[in-house]
Amino acid sequence: MEVRVEKLRKEFERFPALHHVSLDIRSGELIALLGPSGSGKTTLLRLIAGLEAPTEGKIFFGEQDASYKSVQERNIGFVFQHYALFRHMTVLENVSFGLKIRPAKRRPEAAEIKKRAFELLELVQLSGLEKRYPAQLSGGQRQRVALARAMAVEPNVLLLDEPFGALDAQVRKDLRKWLREIHDQTGHTTVFVTHDQEEALELADRIVVMSQGRIEQVGTPDEVYDNPNSPFVFGFIGQSNCLKVRISNHEVWFEDRPIGVPAPGEREGEALLYFRPHDIQILDGCGGCMAGVVASSRRVAGTRHVEVDVGSGHNPVEIELPPERAAGIDRSRIAFRPTKWKIFRP
Ligand SMILES: Nc1ncnc2c1ncn2[C@@H]1O[C@H](COP(=O)(O)OP(=O)(O)OP(=O)(O)O)[C@@H](O)[C@H]1O
Ligand SMILES: [Mg+2]
Repeated sequence: MEVRVEKLRKEFERFPALHHVSLDIRSGELIALLGPSGSGKTTLLRLIAGLEAPTEGKIFFGEQDASYKSVQERNIGFVFQHYALFRHMTVLENVSFGLKIRPAKRRPEAAEIKKRAFELLELVQLSGLEKRYPAQLSGGQRQRVALARAMAVEPNVLLLDEPFGALDAQVRKDLRKWLREIHDQTGHTTVFVTHDQEEALELADRIVVMSQGRIEQVGTPDEVYDNPNSPFVFGFIGQSNCLKVRISNHEVWFEDRPIGVPAPGEREGEALLYFRPHDIQILDGCGGCMAGVVASSRRVAGTRHVEVDVGSGHNPVEIELPPERAAGIDRSRIAFRPTKWKIFRP
């Protein structure tokens, strides 16, 4: 189901946790809320769920104003970071719970509930573990039970708040791929909270980047990575360099020289040049380019991360090179130029 959030504001005892946030979540979409700690991700999720009431603004489920409906009326599936399974219930009982507590006229028959729970356990690949208790499962298995339980009620929206946050890196990676597959099979509208940019980039149809209670940018993973609309988004998604530069004569100048980066249509004056460590080209000396001394380098998986000192008063520039290109480079002077960049104003 489509969910529309309109100018939502939430204050906790005068502290504004969300400022007039608006967002359209499309039916069947897997959307990630991504942002640093305290940016308002959980608050937004809890407002959509109906676990909190908005201070101002509205939430629509389809055409219906759901702003003041209860959690039950909204028919939400929720999974939290920390396993919230019922400890005294078996896996099967946990998954069946949401259907068993329905009022009699909306409750399926016992046999039907059981059938559905078995189907869901097969979907989350836990067939055979129906009789176990949560304490007898691994963390990843528990989160999969939690997801099956959330899906059992055929929710209008699935809300996942860092569901894999407490698990180790490899398990997270596996579950992330698996969640994408499950989503593609079931097609539930899903809102997924994470502060892990890699997770959001890999998993989501669209990413909502949040900072300090505001939405900074909404876009596909490609859009937010390739075309960040603010220094915050540039810095938060992926690695980045930020250099203090000057625009003069439709070109970017660093210190006393142009560096071969055109800036058509940019007004004159101070600016910040952002570029990613892998978006650079090494040159064999140059008239107009950047230059500096390699301060250090370290191997990270398939590439070498090289730190270049470009002068006092500037952050060192980090560039990524194939290891063979970086051999013997330490302490030498190199010339380079960004091949892709964005200019922001300070
Ligand atoms: N019940 C509450 N009472 C007071 N302040 C709150 C409450 N819940 C959240 N806040 C504040 O609102 C802001 C947003 O919190 P929220 O939990 O939404 O952040 P988050 O993006 O989910 O962070 P994290 O990644 O750490 O989970 C924070 O500054 C937080 O301290
Ligand atoms: Mg949170």
